[in-house]
Formats: sequence, structure tokens, C-alpha cells
Amino acid sequence: MADQLQEAPVGAGMVDAVNAPTDDFETAPRDTRLTLAHIMSAHDTNLLGTVHGGVIMKFVDDAAGTAAARYSGGPAVTASMDEMLFLAPVRVGDVVTVKAQVNWAGRTSMEVGCRVETTRWDDLSDPVHVATAYLVMVAVDGEGKPRGVRELQPRTREEQRRFREATIRREHRLARREAILRSREQG
Ligand SMILES: CC(C)(COP(=O)(O)OP(=O)(O)OC[C@H]1O[C@@H](n2cnc3c(N)ncnc32)[C@H](O)[C@@H]1OP(=O)(O)O)[C@@H](O)C(=O)NCCC(=O)NCCS
Repeated sequence: MADQLQEAPVGAGMVDAVNAPTDDFETAPRDTRLTLAHIMSAHDTNLLGTVHGGVIMKFVDDAAGTAAARYSGGPAVTASMDEMLFLAPVRVGDVVTVKAQVNWAGRTSMEVGCRVETTRWDDLSDPVHVATAYLVMVAVDGEGKPRGVRELQPRTREEQRRFREATIRREHRLARREAILRSREQG
């Protein structure tokens, strides 16, 4: 219930939250949501016997790339992935799900948020939160050059919060890139 309330559009009731209309011109973050699921096997393990972090990162990249491609109506490449914290190990027999959503869109780039969860393959216990990551994806044309994307319309309070926080992360990424470039010019 708390989640449903959080997702309710600003100024709208619960029924509207469920049946909120979307049109061709305004895409909301919720329209871009997708979930990818994989079951982990022995092929995915590292020397310790748990699942390799790189396997999970690939799933995240796949999910973010798909969300960005759908949103932008064509290919999108990974420009960056923020720090990714692994909160719990993933084991053989775990069903790994990656939930992805476009949080923010600019001229040609998009920030996609990904949440990784696991459940055991043979019981109904609650999902375990394994990792969260934010990726910058850039829509590209056939020559690999950035191409424009449509405007994103965050509607719910939760979507607006994510949009604002994505803007803060973007400012930090660009400021860091700028500072490094300046430092190289000076050195
Ligand atoms: C991503 C790429 C297309 C950007 O090309 P570019 O010529 O630098 O393009 P621009 O400088 O115009 O940047 C395009 C957008 O990406 C954003 N961007 C680029 N690098 C970024 C970074 N490190 N962090 C945040 N945003 C970034 C820019 O702010 C801009 O966003 P906007 O148009 O929404 O304002 C290019 O660097 C590339 O092809 N990289 C390789 C991608 C790849 O192959 N990924 C898979 C690795 S295996």
C-alpha cells in the first residue's frame, strides 16, 4: 500500500494511479520499466563458488540498454555506469531479476536506474536486494553519433524524486569529467 501511495500521480487518486493514461508524445518513467530474469548456474561462478560480479554487471547493462533502446526507439550505448555496490552474494540456483527504468532524459542521453534482486529457484521467500546501479546511456544513429531522444515526463512523486536525483548525479558526473579534462590541460 505504501508503495502504491508513493507511485500515485501528484494530485490524483488511487484509481488514476493504476489507469493513468499515456499518449504517444509524453512518456513517463513507468512506461519504460522492464524486468530481465536469469537463473544462475555453475557456469556463472567465480573461484569461491558464488556468482561472478561481472555476470551481474552484464545483466544490468543488458537491462539498461534495452530500457534505453525502447525509450529512444533505436540503439543506445553505455556511456558510464556509476559505482555499483554488491550488498549480498548471488549463488547457483538463485533467480536474478534486474528491474530497469529510465529516470531522466536529456538531449541525447538518458539515466537508467537498475535494481537487482534474487530469489531462490525453489521457494517463495521474499526477494533479496543485491545491488543498485545507475547508467548513462546515449542514443546513437547508424554512424554511432548521438541522436536526440524524446522528452521524459515524470508524473508520480516517486518519478519526480528520481528525476531530481538523476539531475544531481548528472551534474556530478559532468563536473568530474570537466575537472579531469582541466587538470590534464594544466599538467
Ligand atoms: C557515448 C558517446 C556516444 C558520446 O559521444 P560524444 O561525442 O562524447 O557525445 P556528446 O559529448 O555530445 O555527449 C552526448 C551525451 O552524452 C552525455 N555524456 C557523455 N559522456 C558522459 C559521462 N561520462 N557522464 C554523463 N553524461 C555523459 C553528454 O552529457 C550528452 O548528453 P545530452 O545530449 O543529453 O546533453 C561516445 O563517447 C561513445 O561512443 N562511447 C563508447 C560507447 C560504447 O561503446 N559503450 C559500450 C562499451 S563496450
